Amino acid sequence: MSLTPQHQDQPILTNYGPRGAELDGPGTPDELVLVLDFGAQYTQLIARRVRECHVYCEILPYDTPLETIKARNPHGLILSGGPSSVYEPGAPQIDKGIYALGLPLLGICYGMQTMAHDLGGKVSAATLKEFGKTQLDVLDPSVMFEGLNPELVCWMSHGDTVEAPPPGFTISASTESCPVAAMYDAARKFYAVQFHPEVVHTPWGTEVIRGFLSQVCQTQGLWTMESFVAQQVDLIRAQVGDQHVVCGLSGGIDSCTVAALVHKAIGDQLTCIFVNHGLLRKGEAEDVQRRFAAALDIRLITIDAEERFLTRLEGVLDPEQKRKIIGEEFVRVFEEESRKLTDATFLAQGTLYPDVIESGTKSAAKIKTHHNVGGLPEDMNLKLVEPLRFLFKDEVRAVAEELGLPSDLVWRQPFPGPGLAIRITGEVTKERLDLLRSSDWIIIDEIKRAGLYRKVWQSFAVLIPTKSVGVMGDQRTYAYPIVIRAVTSEDAMTAEWARLPYEVLERISSRIVNEVPGINRVVLDVTSKPPATIEWE
Ligand code: XMP
Repeated sequence: MSLTPQHQDQPILTNYGPRGAELDGPGTPDELVLVLDFGAQYTQLIARRVRECHVYCEILPYDTPLETIKARNPHGLILSGGPSSVYEPGAPQIDKGIYALGLPLLGICYGMQTMAHDLGGKVSAATLKEFGKTQLDVLDPSVMFEGLNPELVCWMSHGDTVEAPPPGFTISASTESCPVAAMYDAARKFYAVQFHPEVVHTPWGTEVIRGFLSQVCQTQGLWTMESFVAQQVDLIRAQVGDQHVVCGLSGGIDSCTVAALVHKAIGDQLTCIFVNHGLLRKGEAEDVQRRFAAALDIRLITIDAEERFLTRLEGVLDPEQKRKIIGEEFVRVFEEESRKLTDATFLAQGTLYPDVIESGTKSAAKIKTHHNVGGLPEDMNLKLVEPLRFLFKDEVRAVAEELGLPSDLVWRQPFPGPGLAIRITGEVTKERLDLLRSSDWIIIDEIKRAGLYRKVWQSFAVLIPTKSVGVMGDQRTYAYPIVIRAVTSEDAMTAEWARLPYEVLERISSRIVNEVPGINRVVLDVTSKPPATIEWE
């Protein structure tokens, strides 16, 4: 049974993190391709597809200085799509020096239009805009369509179109209303497509990217999780030297992978700290300690900070403020403990690329502050070690497997750092947390019993502190509702609400109202991301 509906094409939030653009990714990968981002919905997907071809890829803003690009020594550049029109005043433009670098270029959508515009072709507003699945006729396969059918269905999403390619370019494909749907200049190693090879609706699109990478950029596909681990181990050793590192362990895949990776690099210089902030799920604190001890031979200290966190959260209603408080308190606990125990100077964190992206930048709308990015206090004393900062979740799972972590850890559903605090709208109290914990446990239990735990990305309970009337055993009840939230996703950037079977929903509902006094109603969240987010706060 599929829990995901057929149509899965959701916009992706695209941008670079507060420090993402300045950081050099995971060291100096043997092969690197950079995406210059013009603000498309799909830029993240381009990077993912390139990495699926085993070439390390990072996203930089389109106006990254030429010197920065040269210093990264990339094998090729990809110009992303974007919402602008090249002929409008103020349209985003790359440094024209990029065309003289001798580097392979692949333009996608706006990236193609900007390439055409800059190099002397003609771009105009299309008389017929193309959106969605479109028939593509390959006229000249070039390396882009080699080995593929001459007639292909691709995904188009554009208003402007290249009417005439620049001098030196050959038209490689067209559609009914787009005369130049793909073009290339083999001598200069410039390739461009109007359609989106990165989305699932262009099912053969990865082949176009693969052709560009292997034949034009001459990459061999050296970026594997094995090479990533080896590189990170070297980098962590170089960064940390003989200093001590503390790692905030939550029990989730990200922090466990960071712990395992840092431990591989520096062994006993690492101490993990597990903070029970009182915002964990039922049995989670004991479970994490047991699993961790069984899987990894790393020093682990457990701190019971429930009271401290709950006191600071008293009366706090604003989601952003909750996150800030939790993030700050986390770091304070780490600082205190590390000072007491190991005199550590570094804090290892499981920050991922989507965390970095969604925490917002001056050019990106802030969706929510992820506690491990924007929540860090400015006067923090510990220096950060964040080896997963440039990885997507599925890549972290691959790293975890590479490091030999057990599969129940690897496939644990993600759980946010601020824990249940962001699953209670409004004030977080002990009573509400206990209601949520018991309900959440039932949801997970039933999802597991139905064999759906790994099919959904996340499944959990949300508590809305608004009471409603019910009737139980001839008695009137006036109690809180619980929301069932379950989503499918590839990377949490977009998500679909999971189509859970009615029988499972029925069992969850009946168990919650019967087993959790204080809850008299169960409702289902049927919103995807976007427009909602996965968590409620
Ligand atoms: P949203 O709610 O933004 O969540 O759609 C996307 C993914 O991120 C997780 N999440 C967080 N993880 N700290 C974390 O470590 C946070 O502050 C945080 N907020 C959301 C969420 O569970 C989902 O997997």
